[in-house]
Amino acid sequence: MSMHSFSDRRIQSFFPVALASLLVLGIVQLVLDNLKSNQSYIFRQFGKLSDERNRLPIVILPEDRIEEGCNVFEGTWTWDNVSYPLYAEESCPYLVKQVTCQKNGRSDSFYKNWRWQPSECNLPRFDALKLLEMLRGKRLMFVGDSVQRAQFESMVCLVQSVIPEGKKSLQRVPPMKIFKAEEFDASIEYYWAPFIVESISDHATNHTVLKRLVKLDSVLNHGKHWQGVDFLVFESYVWWMHNPLINATYGSPEDVQEYNVTTAYRLAMETWATWLESKINPLTQKVFFMSMSPTHLWNWEWKPGTGSDGNCFNELYPIQGPYWGTGSSLEIMNIVHDVLQKLKINVTLLNITQLSEYRKDAHTSVYGERKGKLLTKEQRANPKSFADCIHWCLPGVPDAWNEILYAYLLRSYQNFA
Ligand SMILES: *[C@@H]1O[C@H](CO)[C@@H](O)[C@H](O)[C@H]1NC(C)=O
Ligand SMILES: *[C@@H]1O[C@H](CO)[C@@H](O)[C@H](O)[C@H]1NC(C)=O
Ligand SMILES: *[C@@H]1O[C@H](CO)[C@@H](O)[C@H](O)[C@H]1NC(C)=O
Ligand SMILES: *[C@@H]1O[C@H](CO)[C@@H](O)[C@H](O)[C@H]1NC(C)=O
Ligand SMILES: *[C@@H]1O[C@H](CO)[C@@H](O)[C@H](O)[C@H]1NC(C)=O
Ligand SMILES: *[C@@H]1O[C@H](CO)[C@@H](O)[C@H](O)[C@H]1NC(C)=O
Ligand SMILES: *[C@@H]1O[C@H](CO)[C@@H](O)[C@H](O)[C@H]1NC(C)=O
Repeated sequence: MSMHSFSDRRIQSFFPVALASLLVLGIVQLVLDNLKSNQSYIFRQFGKLSDERNRLPIVILPEDRIEEGCNVFEGTWTWDNVSYPLYAEESCPYLVKQVTCQKNGRSDSFYKNWRWQPSECNLPRFDALKLLEMLRGKRLMFVGDSVQRAQFESMVCLVQSVIPEGKKSLQRVPPMKIFKAEEFDASIEYYWAPFIVESISDHATNHTVLKRLVKLDSVLNHGKHWQGVDFLVFESYVWWMHNPLINATYGSPEDVQEYNVTTAYRLAMETWATWLESKINPLTQKVFFMSMSPTHLWNWEWKPGTGSDGNCFNELYPIQGPYWGTGSSLEIMNIVHDVLQKLKINVTLLNITQLSEYRKDAHTSVYGERKGKLLTKEQRANPKSFADCIHWCLPGVPDAWNEILYAYLLRSYQNFA
C-alpha cells in the first residue's frame, strides 16, 4: 500500500466536520419534544403501583433460549416481509421525526423487511409482554448519544402497543427521557451523555459538536442518575470521531490538552470502568455495552473500483457478505475489548457493529432532519452534502439490536430464576 493511500484511509476513518450538525440534532429535537410534551403524549399517572396479583408468570419456551456458545452477532439478514417490521412506523407515537423515514418521504420500504438471522441458532421471537414482565418493578436505561436514543425509541415502540392508553407515558426531563408502563411499574429510559464521561456537550440544549471538551476523569455527576438502575445499556463512539485529536482534561480542570482520540477514549472508558466497579452490584444489576454503530459515508468502500463517490443515499439493499467500513475503528474496538476484559464485574458486550455494517440501505439519508428541521426540497436534491448516513430509520436496524438485548435479558432472567 502506498503512503498516499495509507494516509487517505486514516483520514477516512474520521468523519467530516460538515457532519457535525447531524449530531446536535438529537438534542435540538429533545428541546422541541420537551416543548410539545405536555400537550401530546403525556398520560397522567394514577399512582397505581405494581400489583403482585397482576403478575403473570413468564413462560420461557425452549425457543426463547439462545444456545450456549452461539455467536448471535454472526449471521445474515434474511428477507421476511411476513413478520417484519415488528411495529408500524405510524403506529408508534413516540418516534421523533428524525427517524420516521417513510413519513418524511422515503418511498422504498424494503429496508424494514429484513430479519437478523444468526448462523448457528435462532433469536427468540420478541414478546413485548415477556419483556415488560422482566422489567416489572425495574428500570432499563440507555446511556449515550443520538444513535443510542434511537435504540431507546425502538425499545419503546417494540413494547408500547401492548399497553393500553392511559397506562403509559413519556416524560422529557432533559437530559433524560422516561417511558413508563404503569401496570408493570417499569420504566425504559434514555440518558444523554455522548461521551459517557462528562463534557461540555452534556447540556441538553446548549452545546456544539465543533467545540468539544471532554473531562476524561469525571463521571460522578452522570453516575448519580445511573446508580441503582437495574439494566444499564451504554454506548459512545461517533462524537469522538471528528478529528484525530480532541481537547480534554484529566486531573486539573484548567489543564486543557489535545489528546489523541484513541488515548482519550481509553482514559474515558477506564474512568467509566472504575465507576462501575465501585457502584454496580452485580447481583442485582446488569450492564451492557453496545459496540459502535457503523456509518456509510463513502460508497466507494462497498462499490470498489466503480469510481463512485456517493454515500448511503439511494441504497436499497443490504451488503452481501464480508464487509467492514473504515469508519468503524478497530483501535477503538480493541480498547473496548481491553477495558471490558479487565473489569472485575461482568459487562455484556453486544457486538452489533458487523451486523449493522451490512445495512447501507437503512440510514435516514435525506429523509431525516438537520438542526431540528426536516430537509428542504433543495437539500434533498443534494444528497452528497445532506444525506445522514449515521442515524437509522425506525423501524429498522436498532430493532434488531433490541431483539438481541431481549435475548440476553431472557437468558439472565432464566439464570436468576
Ligand atoms: C410540563 O409538566 C411538568 C409537570 O407536569 C411541568 O413541571 C413542566 O413545567 C411542564 N412543561 C411545559 C413546557 O409546560
Ligand atoms: C413479500 O415478498 C415476496 C417475495 O419478494 C413478494 O412476492 C410478496 O408480494 C411480498 N408481500 C408483501 C405483502 O409485500
Ligand atoms: C451556552 O453556553 C455558553 C458556554 O458554555 C455560554 O457562554 C452561553 O451563555 C450559553 N447560552 C445560553 C443561551 O444559555
Ligand atoms: C483545542 O482548543 C484550542 C483552543 O480553543 C483550539 O485552538 C484547538 O483547535 C482545539 N483542538 C481541537 C483538536 O479541537
Ligand atoms: C494515536 O495513538 C494510536 C495508538 O497509540 C496511534 O496508533 C496513532 O497513530 C495515534 N494518532 C495520532 C494522530 O497521533
Ligand atoms: C466485535 O466483532 C468483530 C467482528 O464482527 C470483531 O472484529 C471484534 O473484535 C469484536 N469486538 C470485541 C470487543 O470483541
Ligand atoms: C461473569 O460471567 C461468567 C459467565 O456468565 C461467570 O462464569 C463469571 O463467574 C462471572 N464473573 C463475575 C465476576 O461475576
